[in-house]
Amino acid sequence: MEKRDMLYEGKAKKVFKTDDPDLYVIEYKDDATAFNGQKRDQIAGKGELNNKISALFFELLRSKGLESHYVKRLSDREQLVRRVTIIPLEVVVRNIAAGSLAKRLGWEEGRELPRPVVEFYYKSDELGDPLINESHIAVLGVATPEQLDDITTQALKINEILTAYLRARNILLVDFKLEFGLDAEGRVLLADEISPDTCRFWDATTREKLDKDRFRRDLGGVEEAYEEVLHRLGGQ
Ligand code: TMP
Repeated sequence: MEKRDMLYEGKAKKVFKTDDPDLYVIEYKDDATAFNGQKRDQIAGKGELNNKISALFFELLRSKGLESHYVKRLSDREQLVRRVTIIPLEVVVRNIAAGSLAKRLGWEEGRELPRPVVEFYYKSDELGDPLINESHIAVLGVATPEQLDDITTQALKINEILTAYLRARNILLVDFKLEFGLDAEGRVLLADEISPDTCRFWDATTREKLDKDRFRRDLGGVEEAYEEVLHRLGGQ
């Protein structure tokens, strides 16, 4: 497998073609952005940490029968993935009120939700990723009702797997964001990344934040928090 031209550069990752049309290489960057790119910085070592953490989560999900675009980790910063066409939705699953849900419902951060909440945001930098519902998704034509059911079922299954796994490592999975894509056969496959950039992780004892909120809210110790997550997952 040979890495070829860069296809796309996002805020936190680059995507490269390979000599196999069905495989891409993803390279994780140290760049951090928040609030739709308005806040920017570099966090030394973040790309490496997120690559390793994300790989471990994809491997965990695979071991539980949930496939994703992930094939294997190639290096400190790179993973090999299957080519998918990304569905322009950010799928957020929540277990504890935080961030925009705490604001929307007027609930204090940290209040446990009586059931998981699944939300869809329309991936559009121009519009600022607005919250949308199933009717909006049908009108936009970004996913069929069947694909949306598939996405929701997978998202809730992923929530169960990750919540249990993290709870055993004294981490609360507060909420997280997933992206899905369609493979060449039209199957809905989990894609993108699962990392402290895209999840809220709290220490279960102290409720200390071990995720990107440390960057968003200027709490300091971003790299140390990501290192702690990797460490608790058994990585290095
Ligand atoms: P929110 O509370 O700001 O809506 O975020 C919910 C979850 O989604 C949280 O775990 C962080 C993640 N997230 C992203 O991965 N990318 C984003 O652009 C945003 C806004 C949130």
